[in-house]
Amino acid sequence: MVLPTLPADVDEIVPGVIADRRFIHEHPELGFQEHETSKFVAERLAALGAEDIQTGIAGTGITALIHGGKGEGKCVLLRADMDALPLTEETPVEFASRTPGVMHACGHDGHTAMLMGVARILQERKDQFAGTVKLCFQPSEEANEGGARPMIEAGVLENPHVDACFGQHVMSDRPTGEIWVNGGPIQASADAFKITVQGKGGHGAMPHTSIDPIMIAADIVSGLHKIVSRNVDPLDPVVVSPCTFHSGTAGNIIPDTAELTGTVRTFSPENRDLAETRLKEVATGIAAAHGATVTIEYDRGYPPTINDVEMAALAEVSLAKVVGEENVMKMRPIMPAEDMSYFLLERPGCYFMTGCGNEAKGIVWPHHHPKFDLDEDALGIGVAALAQVAIDYLNS
Ligand code: NI
Repeated sequence: MVLPTLPADVDEIVPGVIADRRFIHEHPELGFQEHETSKFVAERLAALGAEDIQTGIAGTGITALIHGGKGEGKCVLLRADMDALPLTEETPVEFASRTPGVMHACGHDGHTAMLMGVARILQERKDQFAGTVKLCFQPSEEANEGGARPMIEAGVLENPHVDACFGQHVMSDRPTGEIWVNGGPIQASADAFKITVQGKGGHGAMPHTSIDPIMIAADIVSGLHKIVSRNVDPLDPVVVSPCTFHSGTAGNIIPDTAELTGTVRTFSPENRDLAETRLKEVATGIAAAHGATVTIEYDRGYPPTINDVEMAALAEVSLAKVVGEENVMKMRPIMPAEDMSYFLLERPGCYFMTGCGNEAKGIVWPHHHPKFDLDEDALGIGVAALAQVAIDYLNS
């Protein structure tokens, strides 16, 4: 793959972006514990002259502003996540994690370093745009309770009022030089459920004296699989997966209870509501039909990540300026969830995927793997890409 020629100002700061990424990589911190990372970012932002630097938002989150030289205008929020994962690093790199059991295995070190690079570029290109760039470094994307929502609750979308949000995720299964983007839903919601069937235990030889929770839970499993096939529009992807089924202690005892847990993935708020409602109706109805009761815990995780169609189209044009039209690919939706979704539910925007895989360098491992690495040639591309998107949006 021939790498794109980067703008001269980006090319010049790439060594600094790589050094920052390596520093963050060496010192990974788990979600909501990014104290040193946050301090490092805040110092960098202050040094480059970003304004109104706010720290400690939702724990370790940071925002800062860069005002364009062309006067008043819109405000665009650019987001990076800062957290690492509870993994022991197994890469051969000299800047491997110094913290046992913690590792940047999803590329958030790259996201943070790239957004600091974007800040530098936008500070230097101030005279090219009107309005305001709000830089947003968020804690904890990997945990079930992410940092995006508390940052929004803390008011990061106001003062100044944010009109649009953009961000990027590196992708090791795509080669460096490609960027993947699309309008509409790109990542699924991730909800968890636990259904406990309360029957009535008894002797395995005398089932008529009991209410068998295993048989009822088995019916519920089968019923849950019909939500997707019978209730959801066949053109919309939805997953309802019962993933654990626990009950019983011995081969001749009908137990009192049975417990199912599982996950629900959807790409729209409507299907998310539908799946939750039908899951509860199906489980409750089947249990009632057999004289049992159920308790249902339904925990909503991240919502679906939905790119605004117009913002994605705008981003596509900007990204083509950086990597060439032939390297801007239409992204297919993926099932893992992402809390950039909260920003995109509140404001129009676009989240795109920046290729960071490189077979020739042996950078082929998937995200969340102890051998995960990113091709540092992708960092300059990501900086140029996000800076271009921000400028084009503000001038649109
Ligand atoms: Ni990630």
